[in-house]
Formats: sequence, structure tokens, C-alpha cells
Amino acid sequence: MTDTFLDKAYDTTGVEATRALYSNWAKSYDEETSKNGYATPGRCAAALKAATSDFSTPLLDFGCGTGLSGLALSLAGFTVIDGIDLTQDMLDRAAEKQLYRSLTLSDPEQPFPVKKGDYALISAIGVIGAGAAPIEVFDTLLSVLDTSGKMVVSFNDHTLEDPAFEGRITSAINAGVIDLISEEYGDHLPGINMKSKVYVIEKK
Ligand SMILES: C[S@@+](CC[C@H](N)C(=O)[O-])C[C@H]1O[C@@H](n2cnc3c(N)ncnc32)[C@H](O)[C@@H]1O
Repeated sequence: MTDTFLDKAYDTTGVEATRALYSNWAKSYDEETSKNGYATPGRCAAALKAATSDFSTPLLDFGCGTGLSGLALSLAGFTVIDGIDLTQDMLDRAAEKQLYRSLTLSDPEQPFPVKKGDYALISAIGVIGAGAAPIEVFDTLLSVLDTSGKMVVSFNDHTLEDPAFEGRITSAINAGVIDLISEEYGDHLPGINMKSKVYVIEKK
């Protein structure tokens, strides 16, 4: 029988444990999430599409995993997608989908592998929050996003339970750093009755 991981994912913390989780999950991730109706990538792609005019602008899919997010972005019309992820086994699955221009392994202990202005489009789909990357990653992505660039971010119900995550978006709006373009609460993994919020923000 194939191991399941959705029941373990949300309690995982720390870089090593997170990498081990996704390393072990890489082979069965697409099957398990699809079986549970994984809807957030499609919702994020549609929300970012609604805020985009040039679909050939390079898009950074941060925490691309096995490429389900890249697949949704590609189906929405984005044509130049670069992926970054913490876990080599997830990146290997993403490479099989042959839809990324580049795939880069990241190490949170090393300097961030992207410079300010490299991207005017960024996605962080199912990546920031419980069982994945800490909220500081939101600040890092925001710091490299080009001026007037757009970013789509999702927070699932577990993540929304901690007000620090949504609070970071509110603080950035209040500080005049970003504008909120859209915010929508909807299905994440209907098979386990979980929802997520999808935000599109623009950097000022
Ligand atoms: C739930 S998966 C989402 C993958 C993909 N975006 C999707 O929608 O299917 C979370 C991914 O984030 C990656 N990840 C977790 N923490 C990270 C970090 N600090 N930096 C980069 N990637 C990270 C994991 O390796 C995993 O592939």
C-alpha cells in the first residue's frame, strides 16, 4: 500500500523535516493531492491571469514541488516559468513534466538565488505555512519582486489559523508596500474538507 502524507504534512516544522517529508512524498504527491481534488493551483493561476496582461513575462514558481502549480499556470497561459524548490526529489518530478524553463534547488541557509527585479510575476502556491515554508519567505519574495510586479500566494486553513500569516499581508498593505488586487476563499483539498485563501498582490 502506498504511504499517505496529507495526514502528516501539517505538523512538520524545520527545514530538514520539511525536506524529508517532501522527499518521501515526491513519488505519490500528485496522486494523493489529485485524489483529494487539489484545487488551489488552478485558482491561483486563474487569479494571477486576471491580473496579467503579458503572459510571456518570466514567472517564478517558488516552491514548485512536482510541478502541479506550474502545470496550472501553464494551462492558464503563462509561457515562461522557472521553478525553485527545497527538495530535489520534488524537482525531479517537476522536470518530468517538461514545462519549466529552469528548475533550481534552493537552500534556506544560503543567499536567496534570485535578485531584485529578476521577476515581475511570482507564485507561491501551497508553499508558505503549516508543513512548508515560514512566513519570512513571504518577505523575501516580496523583496525581490519587481516594482509593479504581481505575486499570487495561497494560505490553507491550517495556515490561516495562525493570524501571523494573513497579518503579514495586512501589514504590507498598511505600510504602503503592496496593493491587494484580489482575495478569494475557496476549495483547497475538498477530499479532506480543507479550503484556502488566494491573494494576488502588486508591489508598489
Ligand atoms: C505542498 S507542496 C506545493 C508544491 C506545488 N507548489 C503545488 O502546488 O503542488 C510544498 C513545496 O514547498 C517546498 N518548500 C517547503 N519549504 C520551502 C522553502 N523554505 N523554500 C523552498 N521550497 C520549500 C517543498 O519542498 C514542497 O515541494
